[in-house]
Amino acid sequence: MSPSSVEANSIDNGEKRQQQQKKKLVCVTGAGGFIGSWVVKELLLRGYRVRGTARDLAVRKNAHLLALDGAKERLSLCRADVLDYGSLRAAFVGCHGVFHVASPVSKDPDLVPVAIEGTKNVMNAAADMGVSRVVFTSSYGAVHMNPNRSPDAVVDETCWSDPEYCRQNDIYCYAKMMAERTAEEEAAKRGLELAVVLPCVTVGPVLQQSINFSSNHVVRYLMGTVATYPNAVAAYADVRDVARAHVLVFECPDARGRYLCIGTVLHRAQFLQMLKDLFPNYPVTSKCEGDGTVAMVKPYKFSTERLKNLGLEFIPLTKSLQDAVECLQRKGLLPVMLPQHRACL
Ligand SMILES: NC(=O)c1ccc[n+]([C@@H]2O[C@H](COP(=O)([O-])OP(=O)(O)OC[C@H]3O[C@@H](n4cnc5c(N)ncnc54)[C@H](OP(=O)(O)O)[C@@H]3O)[C@@H](O)[C@H]2O)c1
Repeated sequence: MSPSSVEANSIDNGEKRQQQQKKKLVCVTGAGGFIGSWVVKELLLRGYRVRGTARDLAVRKNAHLLALDGAKERLSLCRADVLDYGSLRAAFVGCHGVFHVASPVSKDPDLVPVAIEGTKNVMNAAADMGVSRVVFTSSYGAVHMNPNRSPDAVVDETCWSDPEYCRQNDIYCYAKMMAERTAEEEAAKRGLELAVVLPCVTVGPVLQQSINFSSNHVVRYLMGTVATYPNAVAAYADVRDVARAHVLVFECPDARGRYLCIGTVLHRAQFLQMLKDLFPNYPVTSKCEGDGTVAMVKPYKFSTERLKNLGLEFIPLTKSLQDAVECLQRKGLLPVMLPQHRACL
């Protein structure tokens, strides 16, 4: 065989392998949520057969999933609760991979046992059912919440939040951090391959019909519903990049461990200025807590080399916000404001 036919052959084999991989069945927990829906969309787009779990299979909650391209042929939905072990085992039958996206997103302390126990259940049910790879959705709240971190340090996947600081100051971050640790421990015990995506405040167009926590964060500032903004720094990513990151780490056979998914880091004042510039008709919150009396917190540096090395290019935040606002207006989740509305305020 000539060198060129050997090369052509190996390209053929590579493509065949990729095709076979994509025909495989994968399960997405929390398929109907903001991020879950985009993960399902991305997987269908790439040719996978997808089983999505939801706690409520009512059509009104899942119509947006059933309307996705490829859904008719390759998407099935299955009722599962992360606290119901049997429902998870049934959802994972025949699956090669599991994307564990589902988690309560709130400030209610009750979310801690659900996030931890739910993750333990997902990992063990996956292992019982012969799943080989799990992608877990953690949060940058498990990375950057550390009062002892130097403001000049580059935040990367080696950084962990301080659990005690989180427990006292941000119960959601505490729950995500503990759930991520649980995922790691159970994966090691049960011999599962694990890759973890760590998204930050996720914004962008919504597929579902109701508003989720992070989209509501944008709406509340846009509508001036919050009187003051904190003197704080936050990181932002587009939901389409977050979904792509999940699939990229799944498809790369060597991808293991943590992948920080951050597009932009801004002080809240810069974020709100961006909203004002993009949407001048909205009454954006403009007063900072402790205005003028305290030094402004400095944005930190961060590294997303691991995801960039897998080929992810981040969507600019201005585009994410523009697309988010247009989409929320279209769905009636955000009032359209015209210049005369601004004049009345
Ligand atoms: N959005 C962000 O800014 C952000 C940032 C970092 C990490 N994350 C993580 O990304 C994931 C998705 O968040 P999201 O923003 O897409 O929020 P979301 O729209 O509220 O979605 C959460 C999903 O979790 C499901 N869920 C909650 N409790 C459950 C339970 N006991 N059993 C089964 N499913 C349950 C919900 O299902 P139901 O529809 O049945 O309620 C929903 O599908 C979460 O793990 C979250 O921690 C989000």
